[in-house]
Parts: sequence; structure tokens; C-alpha cells
Amino acid sequence: MFVQNNTGSELKRYVNDKLSSSYQRREIQILYKTMLCHRMQWEHADFLSNFTTAVFSESDLLFFKQCINRLLKKEPIQYILGETYFYNLSLKCHKEVLIPRPETEELVEWIIESTAFSTSLLIHDLCTGTGCIGLALKNENPNHEVFLSDISPYSIKLSIENKDFNHLNISVLTFDSLKDSPIDSFKENTFDIWVSNPPYIPMVEKEMVDTNVYEYEPHMALFVEDKDPICFYKSIADSGFCYLKPDGFLFFEINPNYAKDIIDYLQKKGYKNIELKQDISQKNRMLKAQKS
Ligand SMILES: C[S@@+](CC[C@H](N)C(=O)[O-])C[C@H]1O[C@@H](n2cnc3c(N)ncnc32)[C@H](O)[C@@H]1O
Repeated sequence: MFVQNNTGSELKRYVNDKLSSSYQRREIQILYKTMLCHRMQWEHADFLSNFTTAVFSESDLLFFKQCINRLLKKEPIQYILGETYFYNLSLKCHKEVLIPRPETEELVEWIIESTAFSTSLLIHDLCTGTGCIGLALKNENPNHEVFLSDISPYSIKLSIENKDFNHLNISVLTFDSLKDSPIDSFKENTFDIWVSNPPYIPMVEKEMVDTNVYEYEPHMALFVEDKDPICFYKSIADSGFCYLKPDGFLFFEINPNYAKDIIDYLQKKGYKNIELKQDISQKNRMLKAQKS
């Protein structure tokens, strides 16, 4: 056996010993708590009262050992456990679909603040990945009608699983955001919100991407070609202009290095009230614009 006994304090010692050369102390604490809460179905309070005194089964201990071995290879904990938390929702994760990020929760927060007085909205979340943005908006207001779309079959399957898992009544579509193909079920000038966090890292910036992100997360969710790094924003702004109502909102998560280029394009296209917002790390990360 790799631990001397089955107690929480012994497991904690093992996890610290194994991970201390690869992770910071604070990261290990978070990983340890995340693993235990997932496996034991504990809430925060259960963790606090049980984490040193709990006695684990052999099967629990083997599970933790397998997690540690994968963490040592720098695999993200969300892929190991197959789940993450996003804006009050528990979402399933899959290695072919991007893990939702805290910056994207900030985008959701901004949309909710900006539309606080609206009772029911028609929303399209393009390049949806796990479905996180659209699902969170629907969860906050069940009166919204929400469409999720993506080109990846893994994303389509996962966002359907996530909507079912969270009991949210939402439509999921396969849609190529780079092609100007109209969607049969959509009517022009009807949408209140067209929102997207599309791929936004040009290949020239790939050296700046963390190794674990580069090695484990799907490249089609991360990278765009260098020749036109804002191609998704242009295409989505174009289709948004057709499907949004007058005064309807476009919301984007963006690469801070291309904020000006995207704003210039939106102005040229005829969007008004364009607003740039920083994330918690003071980076220009979000854009809002209204159709004229
Ligand atoms: C940066 S990820 C964002 C996922 C999710 N919205 C989020 O915030 O976590 C970009 C997503 O765009 C999708 N994608 C890539 N190319 C696409 C295309 N041409 N049309 C539609 N979706 C595309 C990827 O499959 C991926 O799910």
C-alpha cells in the first residue's frame, strides 16, 4: 500500500509529498480539496470537518492515487474528474472541449448586469464549448430562450449532456461561425443577445500558452490563423447584425491584444455604444456593442 493507513491525515501527507515538486502549496490545497469533495460528494463544510479524520476505502485511495499520477503529468483536474463549476452550475468536462474559465464567468456577470431589467430574452451563444455561457444565462433566468452552437461534435454532445444534467430547456445546434450560412429556424432582427467566446489565440502567441493548456486542451478551441486573428469576431459581428433586433447586444470575450482591431471593425459595421471591460487581472477582456 502507498499510504501507511486509510486516514485523511495520512492521505494529505501522501498528496503533499507527491505534488510538492510540481505544484505550489496553495495549488495543492485546492487540488486536494477538489478531489476529496468530488469523490466523497462533500460540500465545503463536510470537507472542513472530515478531511483529517475521515477513513477512506481501498477503492477511494486507489482513485486518489490515479488522480495524483495524472496531476503529475500536468493534466487539468477538471478533465481528471470530468466536471467543473461555472456560475452556479456543475458542468461535465471532456478532453476535446475547452474547460470554462473564470474570465468567462465575468462575461456572464456583465451580461446579467447589463440586462437586469429584461424579463425574457432571445439569446444565441456561439462557439459554446461546454455550453457554459448560455446555460448560465438560462439558469439565472428560466424565461430566456437560449440557443447554443458550435462546430465541434464533442461540444454539441457535451452541451446537450450539460443542459440535461442541469434540467435546462435549451436548443443546441451545429453551426460554423466562420461561414455566413443562415440558420433556418432563426428570423432576422429577432435576437436580443448574440454572445461568443470564440478561439482567439493566433499561432504566433502559442509560446505564451501554459504547457498544460497547450498539451491537454483542444487546439481548435484555442487557436486562430495568424493571417486574420479576429476572423471569428468579424463573422459573428456580421451575422449578429443580421439576426439582432435594433438595439440588440453583441457580447464578446476577447484577446486583449486585438481589442482595438475588433472595436474598429464593429464601428465600421455600424455597431454603437461599444464598451470595453477589463477582467479581474486588469486585462481588456470583454466587449459589448449594440446594433444600430
Ligand atoms: C475558446 S472556446 C470557448 C468555449 C466556451 N464558449 C467557453 O467560454 O468556455 C471556442 C469554441 O469555438 C469552437 N469553434 C472553433 N471553430 C469554430 C467554428 N468555425 N464555428 C463554430 N465553433 C467553432 C470550438 O469548438 C470551441 O468550443
